[in-house]
Amino acid sequence: MDLVDEIDRLKKEKNAVLLVHNYQRAEVQDVQDFLGDSLGLARKASETDADLIVFAGVDFMAEIAKILNPNKKVLITSKEACCPMAAMLSKEELLKAKEQHPSAKVILYVNSSAECKALADCCCTSANADKIVNAMDSDTILFGPDKNLVHYVQERSDKKIIPVPENGHCYVHNIIELPALEVAIERHPKATIIVHPECPADVQDRADYIASTSGMVKLVKELPGKEFIIGTEVGLIHRLQKENPEKKIFPAFENAICRQMKKTTLEDVYLTLKEERNEVQVPKDISEKAVKAINRMLELS
Ligand code: 13P
Ligand code: SF4
Repeated sequence: MDLVDEIDRLKKEKNAVLLVHNYQRAEVQDVQDFLGDSLGLARKASETDADLIVFAGVDFMAEIAKILNPNKKVLITSKEACCPMAAMLSKEELLKAKEQHPSAKVILYVNSSAECKALADCCCTSANADKIVNAMDSDTILFGPDKNLVHYVQERSDKKIIPVPENGHCYVHNIIELPALEVAIERHPKATIIVHPECPADVQDRADYIASTSGMVKLVKELPGKEFIIGTEVGLIHRLQKENPEKKIFPAFENAICRQMKKTTLEDVYLTLKEERNEVQVPKDISEKAVKAINRMLELS
């Protein structure tokens, strides 16, 4: 049995759409109906007319698809694919911060739980964080859970941005440290440096460009350079190299691998579609509140 053919057949038979994040395994990326960053995937989920949504990504992404489509069946290709950064912010900690800063607006990175999103004024992704912060009618912003994204936004806003929690981060991007980037630069001195805003502050400051994963896809395509050093999860290199065969793409740190993103295999995609397993559920009361913060983000970006 050819898994790729079977996946294709099942998608047609069930009128299903397969949404895939840029960090998925190469063979999973290659069977996508839509491959993108968190913002692109949320947008696609809000527009789809498919009857069945299958998500190859991590928990919070599939939850967003469900929140935007409460009456549709949404499946995640791996039940164990949970983003550790999203788990770094608890509802209790967010409520406490809100109590301490009652006039602040709350903006949450989409990499957060649905119950935290339900307490937020607006969500954001790495593609629109600065725009969303600057659109809020408050001088103080509670922003979580990524402290490195706080650095990125603070550099682009006069507002006071308070990180919640203080030390939230993505374990994959946080290990892309400046010494590793310097080694890559020494090896490829002519390369353009593009890093993700989840990278540490000094790595961001050393880069030529800072962008979300789909922002990186656009930059590599459009910039005249022939060599690029990319500071993000290494799964994106497959897409960048495939779409730009004439350019050379080097990872800033080749051990930047998200174990959660890599849990989904091609067989998981097939079995999820075939058995309609791993259905995503979000409690109605949480979903009805969280959808406001997600929709506000989609309107503003
Ligand atoms: P984007 O694809 O939105 O840039 O997000 C990166 C990420 O870490 C998703 O988990
Ligand atoms: Fe979470 Fe980082 Fe993995 Fe993205 S790359 S899913 S933020 S742990």
